[in-house]
Amino acid sequence: MALAQTWNATELIELDRRHMLHPLSNLAAVERNGATVITRGDGVYIWDAEGNRYIDAFSGLWNVNVGHGRTALAEAAAAQIQDLDFAPTFFGLSNVPAIELSAKLATMFPDPINTFQFTSGGAESNETALKIARYYWWLKGQGGKIKVLSRKMGYHGIAMGALAATGIPAYHEGFGPQVPGFVHLTAPYAYRNAEGLSEDEFIAMLVKELEETIAREGADTIAAMIGEPVQGAGGVVVPPDRYWDAIVPVLKANNILLIFDEVICGFGRTGSMFGMQSYGQVSDIVSFAKGITSGYIPLGGVGMSDEIAETLKGADRMFMHGFTYSGHPVACAVALPNIRIIEEENLPANAKWAGAYLLGRLHDLLDDHPNVGNVRGKGLMLLVEIVTDKQTKAKTDPAFNLGGKLTAATRQNGLIVRGTNDGIAIAPPLIVTQEHLDTIAEGVAASVSEVMG
Ligand SMILES: Cc1ncc(COP(=O)(O)O)c(C=O)c1O
Repeated sequence: MALAQTWNATELIELDRRHMLHPLSNLAAVERNGATVITRGDGVYIWDAEGNRYIDAFSGLWNVNVGHGRTALAEAAAAQIQDLDFAPTFFGLSNVPAIELSAKLATMFPDPINTFQFTSGGAESNETALKIARYYWWLKGQGGKIKVLSRKMGYHGIAMGALAATGIPAYHEGFGPQVPGFVHLTAPYAYRNAEGLSEDEFIAMLVKELEETIAREGADTIAAMIGEPVQGAGGVVVPPDRYWDAIVPVLKANNILLIFDEVICGFGRTGSMFGMQSYGQVSDIVSFAKGITSGYIPLGGVGMSDEIAETLKGADRMFMHGFTYSGHPVACAVALPNIRIIEEENLPANAKWAGAYLLGRLHDLLDDHPNVGNVRGKGLMLLVEIVTDKQTKAKTDPAFNLGGKLTAATRQNGLIVRGTNDGIAIAPPLIVTQEHLDTIAEGVAASVSEVMG
């Protein structure tokens, strides 16, 4: 049931301007231009306060996997609030939805990932994953294993530990000093990092860098490597198919845990239920969030291998980590029907088909454009990379404000995407149809031409 409209668009924008501080926004630009206030969602569409309709071609923030307006999720939240609004999972307490969700996740993740702790989002999940990795080694009598390997262009969230793992310089500016103990490796970003190399040579180069880093830092000082199966916010970096197959044995040989950050990839987006399945690998620890509730309510968590869970549970002492909302009954109750929809509607398979179709359409429409350097994607994570010159791959001058211009042009063309100074990131809900995909591809191509000529 839609709520009666009680607001006035101009007033809302003015109140937003006066009282809101927007994340990941140019605050001065929001002050100047006013926010786009979103008031309603249905399927792949959202509407702003002025009545304009957009295709939500970024799924909120890569998270509204089942699309907007699913009644089953609203009903699950309402029913759970009436039964039990909140109970913690601290002090040995538990609740029915958190138990049901853990058991369900154990059937979904590949073995041996069977044990879970919940959080409220991605950064909290990565903090938890990193702390569990350190704690595991500490319990094993190897408390010197504390360092974390991550990658440039990797994004793991803005809390201090997750931020330290994040390899995108802009997120660090003005927020120093950084948490020590984090080492950033080269991203498997073929467009710029594999110049003149075959795929095998590129992978060999990345493996060699990993081996040299481990030798330099000392395997007995490294707890874990954290990585997104496909890097999202850093620029949709799709690694070569055999990349993870080459990285994982090096980590195993050196007793370094692998943490897959499935915050974007998880729950269908890459064309498999989990990104790790798209690469045929299993990590020791996995972090997730976003798609587990399709963003309807905040929820994240970590899964861990039986070996790690047994080590933690074998210690007869307090485990001093967790959040007030770890295992929130309402959030877990919403996750269950969300996962049912993802499974029943076979959304990972749709993401695979739709991603391949959209990638093909974007190639058709944009490959000949002189400013489109690279079009790439896996499942429904895609990016159109803009350059000033295809030969030199030079980026636009920051003063040109490519991101701002692309954002404005795509909105004018009825699309919400993520415009950045690299180009346009696209990640529609996993329910998209061919008709939506054609509209997205044409809107993106038109916007690139409008901005770049
Ligand atoms: C791969 C990845 N990890 C972690 C996060 C952080 O999640 P949150 O914003 O929920 O803290 C994000 C958010 O975009 C993400 O893309």
